[in-house]
Amino acid sequence: MEEMLTFALAKGRLAEQTFDLLENMGIDCSQPRNPGRQLVLRDEKTNIRFILVKPSDVPTYVDHGVADLGVVGKDTLLEAERPLYEVLDLGFGRCRLCVAGYAEAPGETVSHATFRVATKFPNIARRWWGEKGVPIEIIELHGSVELGPVIGLSDVILDIVETGSTLVANGLTILDEVAGGITARLVCNRVSLKTKLARIRWLIDGLESQLRAAEGGQNL
Ligand code: PRP
Repeated sequence: MEEMLTFALAKGRLAEQTFDLLENMGIDCSQPRNPGRQLVLRDEKTNIRFILVKPSDVPTYVDHGVADLGVVGKDTLLEAERPLYEVLDLGFGRCRLCVAGYAEAPGETVSHATFRVATKFPNIARRWWGEKGVPIEIIELHGSVELGPVIGLSDVILDIVETGSTLVANGLTILDEVAGGITARLVCNRVSLKTKLARIRWLIDGLESQLRAAEGGQNL
């Protein structure tokens, strides 16, 4: 029996696209695709165990070594500041991290003593404005961040922009790009990479060739 590998995946689109690649490698993902209320799912044949968690928790599970590998957005990795090995850029889930707000101050201007930033990424915000020497107040939100400037809670937001339609729908515009090329990444626990090197190498190589095959298909 092959040594067990544990994979932490964020529920949702990133997981579905990861399952597509893994299935093409012959890994049965029928259990994690239809987990019901179960949180630990398996493919007995390849001895891979999947855990389905919140996106921001993927780096935590991998860093603690309870998961050997994880798939997570680069935005989440930049925010988590965990010492993980980023072993493969999976290319999907592409977006940008941007500062957005009103191009010009709206009729009722936000007049706080400090510059307020609403965001799901407080660490990234702290670093971005810290490097510029601009003092800010961070208002941490967990969703619908665009509401910040619209409702007068903050001056700007720092958030991910994919199509830009949420910004447009709320009359906001991109003021600055904090990071481009945000995509899903395969991350690996530092100890696992040493102790399970052959198994992990097999998985990385398999995923890489699936990505290359998909690219080739697109270029036809
Ligand atoms: C994300 C992000 C923006 C939106 C950007 O939110 O926080 O709100 O997507 O996408 P767009 O540029 O294509 O409009 P998500 O859909 O994850 O929901 P949330 O607001 O509940 O976090």
